[in-house]
Amino acid sequence: MKFFLDSAITDEIAYALEYYQIDGITTNPRHVQASGKPFMKVIREIAKLVEGTDKTVSVEVNPHFTTYAEIMPEAEKLASISPNFVIKLQCMDATFKAIPELAKRGIRVNCTLIFSGSQALQAMRVGAYYISPFIGWKESNGEDTAQFIQDVVAMRDNYDFQSQIIVAAVRTGKQIVDAAVAGADIVTAGLAVYKEAFEHPYTQEGIKRFTSFWDKTPYE
Ligand code: E4P
Repeated sequence: MKFFLDSAITDEIAYALEYYQIDGITTNPRHVQASGKPFMKVIREIAKLVEGTDKTVSVEVNPHFTTYAEIMPEAEKLASISPNFVIKLQCMDATFKAIPELAKRGIRVNCTLIFSGSQALQAMRVGAYYISPFIGWKESNGEDTAQFIQDVVAMRDNYDFQSQIIVAAVRTGKQIVDAAVAGADIVTAGLAVYKEAFEHPYTQEGIKRFTSFWDKTPYE
C-alpha cells in the first residue's frame, strides 16, 4: 500500500517526504490555489522536491479544457516539465479518448473525479495509469464507500487491468485501513489526515506514564 500526499504546499510535501516517506503526491486546483502560488511555479517547485526519484506527482489539467483538442497539447506540455508528472484528467469522454493516445506518447494519466464502478471500469479499460475514486465526497453524501472500493479492486483483478487504484479524498484513518483491506494500491490524503491517523490518545497517555516512571528510576 502506497501513501500519497494530497497537497500542493511545498512545506507540507517536504515534511511528508522526510517523516512519512510518502510515495507520491497528488494535486488539484483547490490545492494549487491553497498554495498561494501560480500554477506553473508551484508544480515546478514540487517537481524539484521529487527529482531523481520514482515518486509521481499528479498534475491536473485546466478543468476548462473539456475537449480532446484542448487536452492533448496541455497534457504534453505539462508532461514535458518532469518525468515524475502524471497528468490528471477529469473522468469524461475526451479523457477516455486521450488516455490511449497519451499512453502511446509515454504519458501517464490519472483519471480523476471517479464516483461509480462503471466510471472506474471504463477508465481502467482504456488504460489509465491511475484511477482516483473519491471516497470522502461520497461519504459526505451518505453513500457507502467500503463496498465501492472493494468493487473497484475486484473489477481490476477480474480483468487484470494494469491501472493502479488511488483511493482519493481520504479523510480518516479508518478509510485508509478500509482501502488497504480492500487491496487498493494507494491512498491519497492531506497531511492533517495522516498526522491524526498516526496518533492515538493511548499512545500519548503511555508516553506520559512511562516518562513519569522513567523520571523516578535511577539510570545506573
Ligand atoms: C485526489 O487526487 C484529489 O486531489 C483529492 O483527493 C480531492 O479531494 P479534496 O480536494 O476534497 O480533498
